[in-house]
Amino acid sequence: MSTIDPKQTTYTSPELFNVSDGPVGRPPGSERRIEAQSMVAGHSVESLVEKFGSPLYVMDETRLRASYRRLSEAFKAGWTHTVIGCSVKTNYLSSVVAVMRDEGAWGEVVSGFEYRLCRDLGIPGDQIIFNGPWKTDDDLRLAFSEGAVLNLDGDDELERVEALAAGLGQKVKVGLRINMQLNYPPWDKFGFKLETGHAMEAARLVDKSEHLELNGLHMHVGTYIPDPGLYGRGIEALIALALRIERETDATISSLDIGGGYATRNTLHDTMLPGEAITATAEEYAEAITAPLRRASAQFKEAPRLCIEPGRILVDEAASMITTVRAVKRISGQQKAVLIDAGVHIMPTAWWYDHEIRPEFDHGHDIEDYRIVGPLCMQIDVVRKQVNLPALSTGDRLVIQDVGAYNFSQSMQFIYMRPNYVMAHAKGVDIIRAREEDSYVRQLENLPDHLIGPETQGSILCKDKPNG
Ligand SMILES: Cc1ncc(COP(=O)(O)O)c(C=O)c1O
Repeated sequence: MSTIDPKQTTYTSPELFNVSDGPVGRPPGSERRIEAQSMVAGHSVESLVEKFGSPLYVMDETRLRASYRRLSEAFKAGWTHTVIGCSVKTNYLSSVVAVMRDEGAWGEVVSGFEYRLCRDLGIPGDQIIFNGPWKTDDDLRLAFSEGAVLNLDGDDELERVEALAAGLGQKVKVGLRINMQLNYPPWDKFGFKLETGHAMEAARLVDKSEHLELNGLHMHVGTYIPDPGLYGRGIEALIALALRIERETDATISSLDIGGGYATRNTLHDTMLPGEAITATAEEYAEAITAPLRRASAQFKEAPRLCIEPGRILVDEAASMITTVRAVKRISGQQKAVLIDAGVHIMPTAWWYDHEIRPEFDHGHDIEDYRIVGPLCMQIDVVRKQVNLPALSTGDRLVIQDVGAYNFSQSMQFIYMRPNYVMAHAKGVDIIRAREEDSYVRQLENLPDHLIGPETQGSILCKDKPNG
């Protein structure tokens, strides 16, 4: 309640001043002149484009390792027995996963493809965390035989895994994925619900099974969660469930997995503050998650291993996209469109982030209000809806920052081929995925015999045909 007595206070209307150099006197957006960036990962943008072309995706190995080390040190300082299972789907370029493996990461996978990729890179099966809402029977058998950490997603999978284990005459260790109401919208597509008792019921079922042994609980709060408090509440609920399971069944919960979702400095569309201002640090996430574990540790049958499954926080800020302006044109209102050669097919995260975009050089030109659009023949190929940059011309280059997460794994071949993906490291720069050629897209096609005409005899689609 206000302590001001309205009868005692005389109201005076506010006066407005025009502050020179203040926001009123400046063109919109000029309060922050975006810095130019002519170097990426220690190499000039110019030399990179000359050698590898444009657009170009550049992964910086040094930054990748630095993000891993910072996160690992932060969590291990709070809970020594922490395992980092790097989320493979976030970026399944082999070189990225290999760097993570070198740093000591396990693999967190959600498909047979990702599982085999990890194995191929030398990550042992018992250092693979196998999650996801659907795993094929073949993939499950492989995971059993190699002792992978298997997290069950629902009743159907529980029954199927039990039947497969029984068929093989094996006893298989499993974890349960738990979902709970922590954020909105809830991530309720996955796992067993805590609040309805479904999770406890599943734990009892596994406990009674001759072919399954419950040894872990898993959850993944959601994706891009800037608030460490959510993780704190999540781990507390997981601990309470684990202790209850240990009291009421024969299970020993030797692993608690809190998943991924740690945000980066990227800014989501339509948020008031930049990502940098709202995102927690690695140390803050670590403290929110490990402090409840330290408090509860004595109550467990044995101190559990903590697993985390970071994706974007490891890779996002380590990669940049170099792109070239191919056209500038006026669109609605005062805005101009800058057409670049990197569209949403290779940068799908532009659909939810306002990526930071920097010009290679700042020649001191006036600031312009731009929409940055890609080369695809679709109106929705918009990379930034609105950004203020020093006036740009055809041929200028731009650097789009923090594109390491999900942009390769969710990219699509549409209209244009994917470009070169390179990694900058201590000894230079290597291509880690070569630019696609036409034959890459067409190689799996088959032209039925009756469609092969005299004109198509030399086509790549005819090369294995008797008459080709
Ligand atoms: C089970 C699981 N773990 C980890 C991740 C990684 O998430 P992020 O890249 O947001 O850290 C995901 C992504 O959705 C996930 O589904």
